[in-house]
Amino acid sequence: MAHVKLHIPGPVEVSEKTFQAFRSPMIGHRGQEFKDLYASIQPQLQQLLYTKQLVYLSTSSAWGVMEGAIRNLVSRKVLNCMCGAFSDKWLDVSKRCGKEAEGLQVEWGSPIRAEAVDRKLATGQFDALTVIHNETSTGVMSPLEEIAALKQKYPDVMFIVDAVSSMSAVKLEFDRLGVDVLLAGTQKAFAMPPGLSIFVCSPAALAKAATVNDRGYYFDLVEFQKNAEKSMTPSTPSIGHIYALQSKLEDFFAEGLEARFARHARTAQMTRDWAKGQGFDLFPEQGFESQTLTTINNGAKPGGRVVDVPKLVKLVKQQGILINGGYGKIKGTTFRLSNMGDETDATMRQLYAAMDTALKQL
Ligand SMILES: Cc1ncc(COP(=O)(O)O)c(C=O)c1O
Repeated sequence: MAHVKLHIPGPVEVSEKTFQAFRSPMIGHRGQEFKDLYASIQPQLQQLLYTKQLVYLSTSSAWGVMEGAIRNLVSRKVLNCMCGAFSDKWLDVSKRCGKEAEGLQVEWGSPIRAEAVDRKLATGQFDALTVIHNETSTGVMSPLEEIAALKQKYPDVMFIVDAVSSMSAVKLEFDRLGVDVLLAGTQKAFAMPPGLSIFVCSPAALAKAATVNDRGYYFDLVEFQKNAEKSMTPSTPSIGHIYALQSKLEDFFAEGLEARFARHARTAQMTRDWAKGQGFDLFPEQGFESQTLTTINNGAKPGGRVVDVPKLVKLVKQQGILINGGYGKIKGTTFRLSNMGDETDATMRQLYAAMDTALKQL
């Protein structure tokens, strides 16, 4: 069957080079060869995340680490900042972990604002908060710098940040931000197969985790740190993913991080321009649009062109490209185009051309 190119916001297209690295011959995960592999990519991971902390590798999708962060870092009550399908779900996950949790819900399409977070934290009820930097459902990027700045005012609150669909595409300076956990899965901007998560924790998070009971084993932050100090993971990792990550980091640094961030910002702007040129409105509040994907309004809110989204998806697919027809409660009333990973100006133009053709056929 002919391959349909992915322009959905994850998983995204994986290059042949990455796949070749992914299928490297297997090695033992407690041997020197594995330690050398992990140690070889650690400095680049630290550079990518602008951190001196050890960067951890978890063989799980992002939810594993998201749930793990709750289990490790919440002893009183967690504030789950909610602005879309994934951030809303985190409240439910916190409760399923048996934690006291409260939502700070904003309307889908709006970002999380630091002032609202500040008002909640000022109650003194919370010892942790979760925030999603780039809400992949709504295509909204919340102002992380401003939210993270609150850490200085609330040093005992654990700031847990999901950068699942922004890490490696947007500059995220972990140490400077001063947050406690920053995490992502590899099937988004890393352009790798799904199944590996990359994350980093502050020394404060490790100290807090050590005091929390019932944090389990698989996602125990203390175990991740102990093992990372020896260039290992707590349990048998997906070694293929780590070879793929090594290859991907090679690509990132060959391009240059700043060039990579600029490419994502530019191709996201190109997509917004394309959508507006076709008469559509954007779903996110102006000024908070994602740099890795574009959520286009299609009746979810007043304004702009409205088309038959399932038909549009089908017509684009007939040209060999998969786009996403909206997620959660805005499925069909929005649709999403991804520019994350290896996409260039040229490959994005191919997407717009396919979209133009499909729109004419509707
Ligand atoms: C922002 C965000 N957080 C969390 C997740 C969950 O990731 P996973 O399904 O890989 O666990 C996703 C998935 O799309 C996401 O976009």
